[in-house]
Amino acid sequence: MANSLFRTKKISSILAESGDDSHGGGGLKRVLTVKDLTFFGIAAVIGAGSFSSLGDAVFKGGPGVVLLFIITGIACAFTAFCYSEFASRIPVAGSAYTYAYASFGELFAWIIGWALIMEYSIGNIYVAFSWSDYFTSFLHKINVHVPEYLTTSYREAQKAVAEASSNRELIAAWNTAPIVAGIRFIVDLPAIIINLLITYLVYRGIKESRNFSNAMVILKLAIVALVIIVGGAMVFSNGLSFNWHPVSDDGVASFMPNGFKGVMAAVSGVFFAYIGFDAVSVLAEESKNPQRDLPRGMIYSLVICTVVYILLTLVLTGAVHYKKFEGVGDPLAFIFEASNLNIGWMQFLVAICAVVAMTSVLLVFQMGQPRIWMSMSRDGLLPAVFQKIHPKFQTPSFATIVTGIVVGLPIIFTDKTFVLDFTSIATLFAFVLVCGGVLLIPRKEKQEGKFNIPYVNGKYLFPAIVVGVLLLLGIAVDGYYKDLFNFNFSGNADYTSGKISFLSAATGKISTIAFWVICLLLSALTFIKSYSLIPLMGLTTCLYLLTGMSASNWAWFFGWMAIGLIVYFLYGYRKSKLAQTPA
Ligand code: ALA
Repeated sequence: MANSLFRTKKISSILAESGDDSHGGGGLKRVLTVKDLTFFGIAAVIGAGSFSSLGDAVFKGGPGVVLLFIITGIACAFTAFCYSEFASRIPVAGSAYTYAYASFGELFAWIIGWALIMEYSIGNIYVAFSWSDYFTSFLHKINVHVPEYLTTSYREAQKAVAEASSNRELIAAWNTAPIVAGIRFIVDLPAIIINLLITYLVYRGIKESRNFSNAMVILKLAIVALVIIVGGAMVFSNGLSFNWHPVSDDGVASFMPNGFKGVMAAVSGVFFAYIGFDAVSVLAEESKNPQRDLPRGMIYSLVICTVVYILLTLVLTGAVHYKKFEGVGDPLAFIFEASNLNIGWMQFLVAICAVVAMTSVLLVFQMGQPRIWMSMSRDGLLPAVFQKIHPKFQTPSFATIVTGIVVGLPIIFTDKTFVLDFTSIATLFAFVLVCGGVLLIPRKEKQEGKFNIPYVNGKYLFPAIVVGVLLLLGIAVDGYYKDLFNFNFSGNADYTSGKISFLSAATGKISTIAFWVICLLLSALTFIKSYSLIPLMGLTTCLYLLTGMSASNWAWFFGWMAIGLIVYFLYGYRKSKLAQTPA
């Protein structure tokens, strides 16, 4: 049994099955160039993370969130190299799922495929909610009023009432909603409608979607640049740069007013902002020269987005004191409000741009999900209907419709915070497995025109980095180890008042200790096996970001994975092609 769980697929058979050996074509149209792929990357990356969740991130961490953007950017860059290595060896649709099949074996491939549902489909729920927020506020600006109970989710309104929130729209949604069969009728209609429209567009085909997406990317980059230029100029001309060292509750002026802990508390939102560069890899079967262009598309889009995020965070935290971002869901428009920089036309422009940016994110993920399912279906882990290609539009039609349903239905009964955390933890997990997977596949000779991850022997370097950082923390951070192993939380107000459990209070410490233990084990393994440094750094930086996740994130994540395992043993384990004809 153990052997069959870890049965791997040979790279040669993955390529052969997908059609053409050299390019991996399998019935989809091959139209995408490196420019299109870079645009797809940007289309997927810049969206709800920068337009919406950035507000909460800045509120938690202050200007110091810039550091988290840099750390996350570095983690994603290492990961992009690993995705690129896989994409150049296995240029077929399926992304991390396919890569795991070739390296870790079937069980992990399934687990990753299952986790990617959270990245692609559940992530799109967050984007659809944010799209709706900006769309509604845009309608308000042009004096069109939609009742609040038709523009918010039930759970968000319910939570706002339970927590006596000061958010007037949410409270109004609850109080004015018609009651149908004893239940308040509260639904985010714009989120549902945009999901329907996007599903239709993706169903119709890649070419139309590509042109649409490229145009939207140009528009959103232009307006984000305008926010940076106009906002940045005002920070300096109004002498607001003191906001970069705000005074904390303890009266100390600091770049990180809530300490590094506050910065790390923003990890879900910040990481969410980066999700998407990896989505480029699912377009392998639609790109003209995937082995050369996929890696470039991924890395170019990542570099552009990292620069954008750093500048955007600096502009936001310079323009307005970080504490004012509490509960602000449209931070980029917010800084131009009358009480802040006071530029009305920028508020209007940003609202339009946000709607455009988020539409392109929705589009990319809605295109990615069916392609992953298509690969899983080819392997027999999902029913054959998931690989059905539409005879006229040449798109995975059934899988596209199912994606629309998987995104659309939960819009009715989930809320933003929940889906944000859920998406980030699962995507980080997938990244960890992709980086780990590169360590497991055999090294190969460099080939002209194909991407190769540069091999830097980690034998001495990696253990030296790990031990060096551990020593540095002990020397530079006062009481780092004493604090790490101190599980007495009596000074923590939330813990003492019973608002959080021991596990919640201890999660950060437990995961940090686990992180260092894994690093030490990896160091020993690297010393023995001379692993390559870049994937090792990708693996450890992504693992580090996971230490910022809360106890409830972990609980939901493990719950989802448990369901996935049950589905696998009930279906995929028996129906898998490898089970029937071992590779
Ligand atoms: N990175 C994407 C966004 O921010 C998911 O919307």
